[in-house]
Amino acid sequence: MSKIYEALKKAEQDRERVRVQSTPAVTPVVSGAARTNVIDEEYQKLRASLVSIAVPSGLHTVLVSSPNHREGATTVAIGLASALGRDRESRVLLVEGNWRTPSFRSILPLTGDSGLIDLAAGRAAPEALATRLEDLNISVIPAGTAPAQTVDFEVVDSLMARLRSQFDFIVVDGPPVNSYADASVLATKVDGVILVVEADNTPVLDAENAKRQLGKVGARILGVVLNRRRNYIPAFIESLL
Ligand SMILES: Nc1ncnc2c1ncn2[C@@H]1O[C@H](COP(=O)(O)OP(=O)(O)OP(=O)(O)O)[C@@H](O)[C@H]1O
Ligand SMILES: [Mg+2]
Repeated sequence: MSKIYEALKKAEQDRERVRVQSTPAVTPVVSGAARTNVIDEEYQKLRASLVSIAVPSGLHTVLVSSPNHREGATTVAIGLASALGRDRESRVLLVEGNWRTPSFRSILPLTGDSGLIDLAAGRAAPEALATRLEDLNISVIPAGTAPAQTVDFEVVDSLMARLRSQFDFIVVDGPPVNSYADASVLATKVDGVILVVEADNTPVLDAENAKRQLGKVGARILGVVLNRRRNYIPAFIESLL
């Protein structure tokens, strides 16, 4: 009896460990130590995949988006930018391209409020937008002081053109593809798109629809991140499969 109990307990512990490993947190570099390590590892893998594509193809700018709201685009964009920033030689910029439902200001310790919305409205100069987060070795441009329905894409275009030469990587956090056309337009302003889908939640049809929308505008989908993956098989059994 106790052996069965021990086996079940071990399975439960393994399941917990693996569940955490496959669920990146919002601020991976600043969260608790043990959790940080496993999460870091997942983001380092994502970073390595991106860099392996970026170097040969000259890719600098990437949009992170998802089919629907709340599937983890912002979480992954911040995690990816932070992972890229771990290479202290890299110059990394994170841009909040989701001006519909911006959230950077509640997640990151930004010093300034102004962002893309203020730039487009003529309230801020481009050089006044970025906050430097020294710990993460990234610069951040938020969406701005208030949510907006629209932002002039020519402004975004010229900002990206200006910043392209100043950074090795620009990660743009986008709105959901299926909810706003903005995401597809933003996809045309970057070199590639990472699509975030939520395990056990994003309907397949929604993922396909997002892929179709991005395909229509000629966006290059670099890959898909499966967020919040739960592992129902204990790790020690999975390792035998
Ligand atoms: N892997 C994860 N583990 C735990 N919490 C997560 C994970 N991914 C996302 N979350 C949480 O889920 C919520 C939605 O995530 P996030 O803001 O990244 O989604 P989003 O796709 O950017 O949403 P929106 O479309 O509203 O911008 C947040 O509270 C975030 O902290
Ligand atoms: Mg978001």
